[in-house]
Amino acid sequence: MTVCAEIAEEDTVQQPPEMKVDRRTFLSAVGVGAIGAMSHEDRAEELEHYMIHRLDDSVPPAADGEEAALLELYEAQEVRAPRGTGSLFMPNGREFEPMPAKPTLEDFFRLRFNPATHVLQSATHALETDQPESTIIACLLHDVVLNLIKVDHGWWGAQLVEPYVDEKVSWGIRYHAPLRFYPDDTVGYEYPEMYNRIFGEDYVPEPYIREAAEFAQSHRWYMEARMITVNDTYGFQEGMQVSLDPFIDIIGRNFKQPKEGLGYDNSASAHMWRTIANPNRPL
Ligand SMILES: [Fe+2]
Ligand SMILES: [Fe+2]
Repeated sequence: MTVCAEIAEEDTVQQPPEMKVDRRTFLSAVGVGAIGAMSHEDRAEELEHYMIHRLDDSVPPAADGEEAALLELYEAQEVRAPRGTGSLFMPNGREFEPMPAKPTLEDFFRLRFNPATHVLQSATHALETDQPESTIIACLLHDVVLNLIKVDHGWWGAQLVEPYVDEKVSWGIRYHAPLRFYPDDTVGYEYPEMYNRIFGEDYVPEPYIREAAEFAQSHRWYMEARMITVNDTYGFQEGMQVSLDPFIDIIGRNFKQPKEGLGYDNSASAHMWRTIANPNRPL
C-alpha cells in the first residue's frame, strides 16, 4: 500500500471540520448582482477566496495611513477591484512593511503572505499525517499566489515557484486548481458539499478546466496534485492556530532559496516576486 493510499484510508474515516458559510452573508459580501453575472467557475473561486479571507480576517489587521483613507474613498464610491485582483493589491488599509535587501521565502511569508492561515492549515494537516515533504511544501505554497492574482491561480501559482522547487511540486500546484472540482474516492476526496449548497447541483466546469483535470488524472504525477486538494479541505478551520515554524527546515530542504534574494536572481519568475515585494510601485 502506498503512503497516499494509507493516508486516504484515514481521511475517509475522519473528515475535516467544515467552515460554516452563511449563504446570505456570502452573497451580501460579494454582491448578489455580481454573483448573478459570474460563471460557475467564478462563483467557486469567489467562495474559496471568501473562506480564505475569513480565516485571515480573524487576525487584527494593521489599519491606518493612506491605504485606510483610500479604502474609505473606494467604499464611498462603491468601486470594486476586479475579482481576480490579488489580495495585496486590494485597498484594505494595510501598510507594507519593508522587505530585506535579499528576501527569502520566509521573509515573504512573514511580511507579505501573513497570516497565510489557509496554506499553513493545509500544510499542517499534511505534516501531521506524515505525508511526503514534496506534498507538505506543495500545500504550503499552493495558494500563496492569491496575494498577487486570483484568476487561474493554479497556473500562476505553479509559475511563481517553478524555478525553486522540484518539478513535481509545481506540477501539483498547477493541477490542484482544476482537480478540486472532480472527486476521487480512492483518496477520500469528495466534491466540496459547499459548492452544491451555494451554487446548485448543476455546476459543470468549463471545457479548459475539464481538459486540464483529465490530463492530470492520466498523468503519472497525478497524486502530487490530488493530495493538495485533499489537504486543501483541512485548510478552512476557524480558530485553529498555525505557525510557519514547523516548516522552516522543510523549506530549507525543498525550496532552492537564491543567494541574491527572491526577485533579484533573474529567474523566470523573479519579476513576480518583485511585484509581491513592491505592490506600491507605480510602474
Ligand atoms: Fe487553490
Ligand atoms: Fe487552497
